[in-house]
Amino acid sequence: MSIFNIINEAKLIPLTTITSREDVEPLCEVLVEASIPLIEITLRHKRTLDIIDEFNKFPEVHLGVGTVRSKSHIDLAINASASFLITPGYSENLLDYAKQKNIPLIPGVQTPSEIMKANEAGLSTLKFFPAELSGGVDRLKAYKSVFSDIKFIPTGGITNGNALSYLALDNVIAVGASALISPDLINSKSWSEIKNNLKESKELINKS
Ligand code: 3PG
Repeated sequence: MSIFNIINEAKLIPLTTITSREDVEPLCEVLVEASIPLIEITLRHKRTLDIIDEFNKFPEVHLGVGTVRSKSHIDLAINASASFLITPGYSENLLDYAKQKNIPLIPGVQTPSEIMKANEAGLSTLKFFPAELSGGVDRLKAYKSVFSDIKFIPTGGITNGNALSYLALDNVIAVGASALISPDLINSKSWSEIKNNLKESKELINKS
């Protein structure tokens, strides 16, 4: 199954930042227990760069590497057996490099021009970021008729309270959210709370 099918089925990409190698195993365990097959780990902390290869030990979780802003980030992601990359904005340079390395990249877009550039480069699944600040559901509704062939993954400000209004749009295949696995929960090693958050969101989404 392609990573896009996996994202499409999961409808949710939990995202977080991890800075400690020992947190990778319990995190992957709770993902599996909550039946969530994927995670986006953002490269926002220097320490994450040193430990992200720990995900190699947990192939049952599809790793997305997010906040990718350089070619060296792409190399690190590949070294960690990442299944996909997410960039906060659209970079032709990074997209070319990802294509060369044969790894799917989902760029962040906000405007019609960015959508057109990404689509001209062959992409049809895009991250809509920062979703809530960029017009949210209404903006995506406006994109539906113009860009009927483009699918979006809104991220930025997504909560259990608004996820379903995004997922109700047929140009949205999944939502991304950091709220389920906050840095505080990771730092306090609150794995069962993280698991409950993930399960709760999954149930909410499944019921919709
Ligand atoms: C991202 O990197 O996609 C965003 O920071 C996630 O936004 P959120 O923290 O509001 O979920």
